[in-house]
Amino acid sequence: MAKLTIRGERRLQGTVRVGGRKNSALPLIAATLLADGSSRLENVPRIHDVATYREILQSLGARADWDPVHGRMTVHTGALAPREVSYHLATAMRASYYLLGVLLARFGQADIPLPGGDKIGQRPVDQHFKGLSALGAEVWIDRGIMRARADRLRGATIYLDVVSVGATIQLILAASLAKGTTVLQNCAREPHVVDVANFINAAGGRVVGAGTDAIRIEGVDRLVGPTHSVISDDIEAGTWMMAALATQGDVVVENVIPNHVTPIIAKLREAGAEVLEGSDSVRVIAHDRPRAITIKTHPYPGFPTDAQSQMTALLTCASGTSYVTETLYDDRFRFASELARMGARMRVEGRTAIVEGVESLYGAPVEATDIRAGAALILAGLGAVGETTVYGLEHVERGYEHLEQKLLGLGADIRVHDRQGTAVG
Ligand code: UD1
Repeated sequence: MAKLTIRGERRLQGTVRVGGRKNSALPLIAATLLADGSSRLENVPRIHDVATYREILQSLGARADWDPVHGRMTVHTGALAPREVSYHLATAMRASYYLLGVLLARFGQADIPLPGGDKIGQRPVDQHFKGLSALGAEVWIDRGIMRARADRLRGATIYLDVVSVGATIQLILAASLAKGTTVLQNCAREPHVVDVANFINAAGGRVVGAGTDAIRIEGVDRLVGPTHSVISDDIEAGTWMMAALATQGDVVVENVIPNHVTPIIAKLREAGAEVLEGSDSVRVIAHDRPRAITIKTHPYPGFPTDAQSQMTALLTCASGTSYVTETLYDDRFRFASELARMGARMRVEGRTAIVEGVESLYGAPVEATDIRAGAALILAGLGAVGETTVYGLEHVERGYEHLEQKLLGLGADIRVHDRQGTAVG
């Protein structure tokens, strides 16, 4: 198991550049399969989930040339075929489920194992199924495989019962090649929904209203591969911003859209950090331990659930008692027991974590169970007294690019060990 060793109490200082957004890049890579010819994506993050998605594309006959150094991926769909996606690839992440709508729209059939991804509670796909059925498909689960069939999808008006990023994007992708007009109601408004809509429109599709709760999609007969740049990762940006406060440091986060991290900025200010916003950068300066605050996760533009773990870790060292309420997932405080190994004092009551701040944490061996929990443990280790070892680093590397280089660049005292225990960084 890959691990990261951190010697804490180093004040992080310097500049860090954020990569492309994981939760935009993955559906965009899926979306390239809707288009004839070649699509080119830029600002693609160098993360494990992108590498896995590329493997999935190749297994379907597409050619995906990835230049991770320059963040470019070109996908050619000439030889694409609707094969069943392998269990191991589909379950390596959540976003493999986008292939259901994509292959269905393109070929009238799709066979995708139920997805994997972070284990943070129940993650049903009923809204995906409801929407695809409304578009005229037959959709069912057969021994763990989501199967969908349709002659040609037909536009429909679909009210989503829950605000879901995944279902909203799934239905935009499927409806883009349907016959007629689709109206999606009660949509997720995340910037990555807008990013996907922009890609479809650049490919010749007609999507209007992305970023609001009602989206209208006029289906077209054909999409043609465009060039498109992935928006920057708000959660990665937020993690570095929080790292500045966790270490009472001074960090400039570049390649970030400040509007996309408004709730994180607001909460860091409440917690006592000085936050300076530039046009595409945010600087966070801190001289003291954080002050206790209250957080409640919500769909965008509320406080993002994907930043909750990191913020909770930060608040373990706040002066006073913080309350963190998770409204999206029913099991997203699993990392609490790991933080307790480092001396954190928190208890979870229902959906709320009550965090009694301590003066400082102390280093300990801990294990990451998902991407964001892993990032949270790293933040905890950066501020802790002594040495912390975070096991399960592969979870974190699913979603954070150049993790060790970026940490080293900010002055952290860290080492990455590979699976054999050899230091590699
Ligand atoms: C996506 C992100 C994940 C992020 C989450 C919320 C990807 C690959 N993952 O996950 O990082 O934490 O958005 O911003 O983009 N729900 C249903 N039925 C459905 C679909 C969802 O009840 O059919 C519920 C979920 O259980 C959850 C809520 O709706 O409580 C939001 O889920 P959704 O926005 O769909 O998140 P994911 O696609 O799972």
